[in-house]
Amino acid sequence: MIGVTDREDTMTNTIRTKVGIIGGGPSGLLLSQLLDLKGIDNVVLEKHTRDYVLSRIRAGVLEHGFAELMREAQCGDRMDAEGEIHEGFEINDHGTMHRVDLAGHTGGNSVVVYGQTELTRDLYDVREKMGGKVIHEALDVAIHGANTDSPALTYRQGDETFRVECDFIIGADGFHGVSRKSIPRDVLNEFEKIYPFGWLGVLSRTKPVNPELIYSKTDRGFALCSLRSQTLSRYYIQVPLTESVEDWSDDDFWAELRARLPDDVAARLETGPSIEKSIAPLRSFVAEPMRWGNLFLAGDAAHIVPPTGARGLNSAASDIYYLYHGMVDHYLNGDGAGLEAYSAKALARVWKAQRFSWWMTTMLHHFPDQSDYDRKLQEIELAYLLSSEAAMTSLAENYVGLPF
Ligand code: FAD
Ligand code: PHB
Repeated sequence: MIGVTDREDTMTNTIRTKVGIIGGGPSGLLLSQLLDLKGIDNVVLEKHTRDYVLSRIRAGVLEHGFAELMREAQCGDRMDAEGEIHEGFEINDHGTMHRVDLAGHTGGNSVVVYGQTELTRDLYDVREKMGGKVIHEALDVAIHGANTDSPALTYRQGDETFRVECDFIIGADGFHGVSRKSIPRDVLNEFEKIYPFGWLGVLSRTKPVNPELIYSKTDRGFALCSLRSQTLSRYYIQVPLTESVEDWSDDDFWAELRARLPDDVAARLETGPSIEKSIAPLRSFVAEPMRWGNLFLAGDAAHIVPPTGARGLNSAASDIYYLYHGMVDHYLNGDGAGLEAYSAKALARVWKAQRFSWWMTTMLHHFPDQSDYDRKLQEIELAYLLSSEAAMTSLAENYVGLPF
């Protein structure tokens, strides 16, 4: 926590707002934009520069509900123009491809393939256009009086210390942020599962190997073929946690990816220099409750999923939906019920996304220390899915996103 200086008490360094948001990632920016459109004043504090936030390559698949929320935030034009609607994806089971017909199993629902980088850029642009208060390089952010009626945030910029006085604090500062850690240990329950592998991801300016995503299960491990556009591909391979990015040349990566695809798909894989290469560890995590006093957690600050089910950002979106409506009811209608119900409502959906992500991850990855019995169950789980309309429907309804 930063020290309290005389300066902090002067008018110049004290900002008054309704909602103080920590974190200028997709969760924080989307909430800021939605609240601003309803005339609810807010300030976003982001630790990094805009360029740094935009350099992180993460999600690529947005569910229908998220896309709707972007439109409601008046921020969906580029997503609608440049994003791709996907009505299905493929599962490669040891060399045999099977299509998951999302639209067919969900009454016409689909997902939008549009990168988190672009979506975040759109949110920054619209905040800027509306004169939104997004403060970058806000360092040493600290939360004060979260469970009192006068919560506040302090932060440092250069040599100056600032204080933000607000009604509510939103912790949208990702898994490593300060918000969750500010909640007393005896209040918070944390549930965690660490997987014994990570995903090595490569972004390359090449034509995607397939028009739809391919989730690939092989004896060498899992692989995912994804995309950002018809000229930008995103690929991942499962790697042991002991590996680092430096262990993998581009050539090694392409060779291993090829080996995890059916021969005809591998034959048409276009390769090129990687423009980004990183390893993401796989983790499931939930913190309960998602509210402490006037501090509300949202997105990765409260929960993490392994990326296999493409649920992370989409779970963040449902938190923002509940928070947004709770705030609107509170400020515009004098009704606090939505905010009261926030934690329970958000967690109910979060746990469904946890289950789905765990299930997809468990079914499709190679587990190094698996017993023969568990391997047999894993094989039959996939075989059952691929043979059952009911199981396919369950996969499809979760992948396109359960209702908010
Ligand atoms: P973040 O994106 O982590 O943003 C938090 C922000 O807070 C950051 O900008 C950070 O700089 C800032 N911050 C942190 N600490 C502080 C502090 N102390 N003070 C001020 N600011 C702070 N999800 C999907 O739905 N679909 C996918 O296809 C998908 N693919 C993925 C692929 C990979 C490889 C990975 C790693 C993730 C993927 N995800 C996916 C998950 C998704 O990227 C995250 O769930 C999403 O970024 C969460 O957004 P957020 O705004 O809650 O958190
Ligand atoms: C991505 O394109 O980065 C992506 C797509 C689907 C996933 C995970 C990541 O399940």
